[in-house]
This record gives sequence, C-alpha cells and structure tokens, in this order.
Amino acid sequence: MTFINRIRMMIPQMLSRLWSYFVFLTSKKARLTGQSPDGREAALLNYVLSKAEEGNAEAVLAAIDDYTQSVWMMNIGKHKGSILESAVQRCEPKLALELGTYCGYSAIRIASKMSKPDSKLISLEINPNNCNVAKAIINHAGLASKVDVMEGTLSDRLEDLCDILDDEGVPHFDFLLMDHSKQCYLSDFLLLKERGMIGKGSIIVSNNVGSDFSNYLRTSSDELESEEHRCGSEYMSLLPSIITVSTFKADLPMFVRT
Ligand SMILES: C[S@@+](CC[C@H](N)C(=O)[O-])C[C@H]1O[C@@H](n2cnc3c(N)ncnc32)[C@H](O)[C@@H]1O
Repeated sequence: MTFINRIRMMIPQMLSRLWSYFVFLTSKKARLTGQSPDGREAALLNYVLSKAEEGNAEAVLAAIDDYTQSVWMMNIGKHKGSILESAVQRCEPKLALELGTYCGYSAIRIASKMSKPDSKLISLEINPNNCNVAKAIINHAGLASKVDVMEGTLSDRLEDLCDILDDEGVPHFDFLLMDHSKQCYLSDFLLLKERGMIGKGSIIVSNNVGSDFSNYLRTSSDELESEEHRCGSEYMSLLPSIITVSTFKADLPMFVRT
C-alpha cells in the first residue's frame, strides 16, 4: 500500500478516535462513574472475544490496541505500557497492586511480566461494570489465576488487602501502579505507607501524575527516588503526559497491621 493510501485509510480512524475522545471528556457519566456513555467498554470486550486467540495475552493486548485506533479509551496504551513493563521487570514483584483496573489492559501488561512463581496482581476498580469487563478480558488472556480484580477503592478494601498480604506471607506490595483518580494519588499513597503496605524497594508507577503527588515526589527525594517520563497521552500522542517510576527507599518502622 502506498504512503498516500495508508494516510487516506487512517484519516477516518483518527477522526472517529478524536470524536470519541471528545464524547468521553464531555460526558458527566464518564467523569462520575469511569464508564463511557456509549458502552465502548462492553463493545471492547466483544471485540476482544471475537478477535483474540483465547489464552494469548499478547493477542488480547493487540486486539485492544487495534480497537482503540478508532475508539479512544483510557487504557495506559503502548508507549507508557512499555515503560510500565520495564518497571515490573526491574522489580520482579511477588505481590503487586494496581489502583484503577478499567478494562484490564495495564493489568495484563503487568501480570504478563511477573515472572516469579505464584506471583499475583491485585487490581482495584471502583466501577462494577468495568470490573466485569476487566475480569472477562483478563480471563480471555489466560491470566485469571494471576490477577485478582476487586471492586472498590483502597479505603473500602484495606482490610482485605491486609489479609492478602498476611496470607501470601509478604510484608508489603513490592509494586504499585496508581492509575485511578488523580485526586486520590497522594492520599492513597500516604495510606499505603502509613499502613506499611509498601516498603523499602517497592516500585511505584504513577500515570498522568497530578500536581499534589508530583510535588510530593519532588520534595521527598530522601524517601523516593523518581524518574519522570514525559510522553504523549494514551492513544492521543500529541497531548503531553507524564508517567513517573519511583523506588521507595526509606526504612519504615516495623508495622503491626491491625
Ligand atoms: C485511567 S483508567 C485505568 C486504566 C487502566 N489502568 C489501564 O491502563 O488499562 C482509571 C480507572 O480508575 C477507576 N477509578 C477511579 N477512581 C478510583 C478509585 N478511587 N479506586 C479504584 N478505581 C478508581 C475508574 O473507574 C477507571 O476505570
């Protein structure tokens, strides 16, 4: 196919993606519930089930990326996804935590790179419909035994998370992705720290980091060593965005979880 023909084919997809981005941004439902007004999350599930080979995580990710050529979605996307994967590989987590599952795209990327035997990812999602879509997509990717999608916020599920840490016999989560609501990044991080649920060596990835957590990172270099990656937004590469990868290096006092 010639370059001109390729561009000609891409234009309708780009316009459709732009329109769906606009629809999402201006939707009160999307802002309040984390679900699009047009049912694109359920449509994505159908697309994945029909296009991707069952049990093939790579094929599932490729189908999601393909779907988002014409429908904008808030998955972390390919570019930031590869930064996320490098951070997982660097840390080799036994127990990881994600805040903000959406449809399970980043959960699949994280879990696929968790190579330790019996390693597990717990992913929290506030919206029950998103939880159902994510569970079905993760199941189709063959990762259901490795990823536990739980409905609720960090505060809602704090006690369950403490039980999981105790059951797994590990002191804290060694990997954390914050990709939920920017307003909650700092308070959720502080809650995890206060409860000893992250500790020395934990890696914290924060996507689209907002100003309060970003200020915290900047002023806490004794506690967190951070690298900032400036890149394009998910499936909208002209819009600037930041993803940070931080290593928690402070010694916390031994914490007795109550
Ligand atoms: C940007 S999307 C997550 C994308 C996902 N990490 C991925 O890359 O595939 C944000 C998600 O966080 C959820 N959310 C918002 N606030 C939350 C909270 N306090 N706790 C858990 N999930 C939350 C939203 O419903 C939405 O599904």
